[in-house]
Parts: sequence; structure tokens; C-alpha cells
Amino acid sequence: MRLFEHMNIENNVLTIGGIKTTDLAEKYNTPLYILNGDAIRKQCRMLKREFNHPKLKTTILYASKAFCSKAMYQLIAEEDLSIDVVSGGELYTAIQSGFDPKKIYFHGNNKSMDEIQMAVDYKIQRIIVDNLMELEYLNSLDAPMEILLRVNPGIEAHTHEYIQTAKETSKFGISFESYDLGKAIELIQNSDTMTLKGLHCHIGSQIHEISTFEKTAQVMLDQIKLLEHKYHLKLEELNLGGGFGVYYFEDQEIKNYDFLNVLLQYIYGYISKNNLFIHHIMIEPGRLIVANAGITLYAVGFSKETLSGRKYIFVNGGMTDNIRPALYQAKYEACVANNMTAENTSLYTIAGKCCESGDVLIDEVSLPTPKIGDILAVMSTGAYGYSMASHYNRIPNPAVVMVEQGNSKVIIQREAYEDLIRLDL
Ligand SMILES: Cc1ncc(COP(=O)(O)O)c(C=O)c1O
Repeated sequence: MRLFEHMNIENNVLTIGGIKTTDLAEKYNTPLYILNGDAIRKQCRMLKREFNHPKLKTTILYASKAFCSKAMYQLIAEEDLSIDVVSGGELYTAIQSGFDPKKIYFHGNNKSMDEIQMAVDYKIQRIIVDNLMELEYLNSLDAPMEILLRVNPGIEAHTHEYIQTAKETSKFGISFESYDLGKAIELIQNSDTMTLKGLHCHIGSQIHEISTFEKTAQVMLDQIKLLEHKYHLKLEELNLGGGFGVYYFEDQEIKNYDFLNVLLQYIYGYISKNNLFIHHIMIEPGRLIVANAGITLYAVGFSKETLSGRKYIFVNGGMTDNIRPALYQAKYEACVANNMTAENTSLYTIAGKCCESGDVLIDEVSLPTPKIGDILAVMSTGAYGYSMASHYNRIPNPAVVMVEQGNSKVIIQREAYEDLIRLDL
């Protein structure tokens, strides 16, 4: 199991941000999401350093679907990043946190009229338009709007099918080959209110082959060249999306992010050679910023060995706080946080407490023999854990604690049973 820089072992106990996980479990109870704020800031700063070019304007949008809360948005604002949001709820949370609307980009393939009105009222930076019908609706509003069009570059990213977003059958964006694209551009050109600032694409998530990003940039620039010529456009902005692979359990990460700088050099070379107008390049990573900064602590409950010899360790959370293994076979590493130096004795399956056979957090992990009350830490759960949590079996959502500069504080409270019935009539 990988111990990230912000973790350590002290007297047989796993620490995060210099604090013993056992102390955090005792103080805040389990299950518990822990995020290391210093590690999140480090990723933001690394990205700002690498995604930088003297001749291009660059913007990093934190894809806040990975994890959002008021405190997270405040941290991102302090690090001077922009954000993308995908719903009225994310937009509302960002605005309530004091986030500058001029740094908010609004995605979504089926934004409601109310959500679009919110975006207009808050005067956010950009609406990223997914389809022709959305565009027709936006055009019917009497509101000035600068937009990006989400296109589908038709690139199959090597990642799980559920997190590929640019196959020809994908629900996202408009294909370059589709008639809708020409219609969309002409609609904007004839509109009194809408301005097309540029194009957006996002080909999928947890991609670790950097050549995929280069290929995407090339396809996008080739198409921009054609579109500029065909429609006499002057597009300024190109958003290449997120999807940068991180370490979860084995060599699936991008090891060196200086490829972002190489990518910008390639883009600048292409732009100069072809005299393109584009000069503002964006990316929108989510998990890269927050995944490895997070862990989830669980209390070990009962254990059991099946007739077939499968050894289960049951924990007091599960698919309600981390749906990724059940949804797309995501894999994680784990350890017994209160017994870090003990010998591993066997392969175990970590299962949750939900009434669902698929409620398995880790299929097979080598661990010391578990005891009831042990603290099991699942690593790299900072992204798409809390943000995809559910109330299945009416299990309350855990608290989220932020550890920073040696201190810990609750940034999202643990739900109580009363919270579960708050809206019941
Ligand atoms: C449009 C868009 N941008 C960015 C992201 C962020 O992806 P990741 O967290 O893998 O970087 C996603 C993820 O679903 C997305 O759909």
C-alpha cells in the first residue's frame, strides 16, 4: 500500500497531516471522510506551475463534482482556481461559499430552466452548452451570454466504459460530424445575445496515457482550424476537460505532470503555425486535485468466512459512502490504521453494511487478522466518495473532516437519524 507524502506511521498508527487517524476516529467517530487540505493545495499549486505558458492565457477549473462543500470552494478560491459546476446545487453551494461568479463555468447536458436562470442571475463566467435544444432555449432568453460549446471529439479513452465520455454513442456534447454542430454555430452567429467564445471537450476519467490528451488537443485544434475557416469564426478559448489519472492501487497514475507544459507548447506551436486565434487554454481536473488527499476511516465489525473460503471483513459504511467499486469496479488500497506494523495474515474482502451483495468496497486486500473495533482506512477516497454518497438503507452520511497545518475541523457534519426524516411528511 502506498503511503502518500502527507501520511506516516507513528507508534503503529497511520497519521494523516501529522494527526493520528485513531485520534480522529475517536474525536469524530466513524465512518469518517478525512481530507488533507495541505495535500489539496499542493496539487493546485503543482497544476498552476505546470499548466503555464508565457504566450498563452491558461485557466485551471476545479471540477467540483469530485468533492464540493462550502469549505472546499473557499480553499479553491484561496488557491485562485476557477471551478466548473454541473447543477443548481453545486452552483448554489459555490455562491453561498462566496465564490466569485466570474470564475464559475456551468456544465450539464440537461440544465433545467431554473438552473439556467440561476446562472444568468448570478452572472457566471460561462455556460458550457451541451446540445442544440439547450442553445435554442438560451437564445430565447433575453440575456447576454458568453458560451463554450461542448463537442465530442470521438476519442475512446482507455478507461472504464462508464467514465468514457467521448465515444460516438456518448450522451455528452455535439459530434464534429453531426449536422447539429453547423446549426449550433449558425444559431449563435445569428443571435443578438449569445457569443461563442470557444469549444470544450472531456474525453473521460482516470486516463493515464498522456498521449490521449495530446491526441485530443490535436483533434480539437484540427477541427477549430476547419471551423474558423468554414464559419469565419474567431474562437478564443479551448477547454480540454479533466480526467487525469491518479494512483488508486497500482500503476494507473500519470507520473509526471510536466506533460501539461509540453501539451501547451504543442498547442502554442500549432496555433502559431496555423494562425489560429485561440489563446486561452483551460483544463478541468477533479480527482487529480482531491482523490489522494482523502481517506475514509471505518470501524471493523463482524467478520465471516464463507463455505467457499472467502474471508469477509464487514465495516460500518460501504456503498452509501463509496459507490465507485459497485458502480465501475473501482479498486482501492486499505490498511488497519491502528495496527500498521502487524504482519498481513490473509486476503480479505471488505464489505459494507448495506443489503446488497454488490456492497463490496475492496474485493481482495492483504491485511492482518482483523479484530472488532479496529480502524480500517481506505485510501484515496477524496474524489467521488462523499459527492456520490447516498442514503440507501437510510444510512446517514458520514462527517467530512479537513486536516490542515496539524489541525482538524469538521467541514460537513455527520448526519443524524433526524436528518433522514427531516423532509418526510
Ligand atoms: C465535463 C467534465 N469535466 C471534468 C471532469 C473531471 O474529471 P476528473 O475528476 O476525472 O478529472 C468530469 C468528470 O466527470 C467531467 O464530466
